[in-house]
Amino acid sequence: MNQDEMKKAVAHAALEFVPTGSIIGVGTGSTANFFIDELATIKSRIDGAVASSVATAERLKRHGIPVLDLNDVSGLGLYVDGADEATVHRALVKGGGGALTREKIVAAASKTFVCICDESKLVDVLGRFPLPVEVIPMARSFVAREIVAFGGRPELRKGFKTDNGNEILDIHGLTITDPVGLEERLNHITGVVTNGLFARRGADILLLGTRQGVRRIPA
Ligand code: 5RP
Repeated sequence: MNQDEMKKAVAHAALEFVPTGSIIGVGTGSTANFFIDELATIKSRIDGAVASSVATAERLKRHGIPVLDLNDVSGLGLYVDGADEATVHRALVKGGGGALTREKIVAAASKTFVCICDESKLVDVLGRFPLPVEVIPMARSFVAREIVAFGGRPELRKGFKTDNGNEILDIHGLTITDPVGLEERLNHITGVVTNGLFARRGADILLLGTRQGVRRIPA
């Protein structure tokens, strides 16, 4: 099985969590795209989806899946999304695609978060993947200095604007032994919209695509 086949396998496995007659929160990225394609095969069973990005909304619409505004739904039963890094404790780094803020909002509004990724994303300690931080543009330099002060190496994601019109600083050189603490600390810097650590509200279920098949954590 190659990496795309593993992504496709976990995307398919996530269908089992989709309740009939529900509205689903849908993430962003190549693994989430495989999930959208799978969701299209059962679209008559759901009422619609809330998208975590403009790109996801467009793909859902292309499949004929109704896209709803989060403000128009009272809550979501399920959110399905990928990750850039994941631990067995289901803490995640997300935001490689720059959609971290909307992803965090949709995850927060959902009862169950099923994270789908291939085995290359599983790590013992988060931080090898640069940690994305969405910042209000005028605060970029201030936030970067604050991050340097506690030992991170922020790099501006050049030529990139989020769907919210903001910028991304990718923090290199972190060894994240306290994901909950770092998530809170970064979010307390004025000018930070949010950061890509999903630890306070991590995934409830991690579906990991491996060469031997789909591994579910917790089993
Ligand atoms: C986008 C994300 C994605 O979930 C993350 O980047 C993983 O993407 P992919 O499935 O393409 O590896 O957080 O903001």
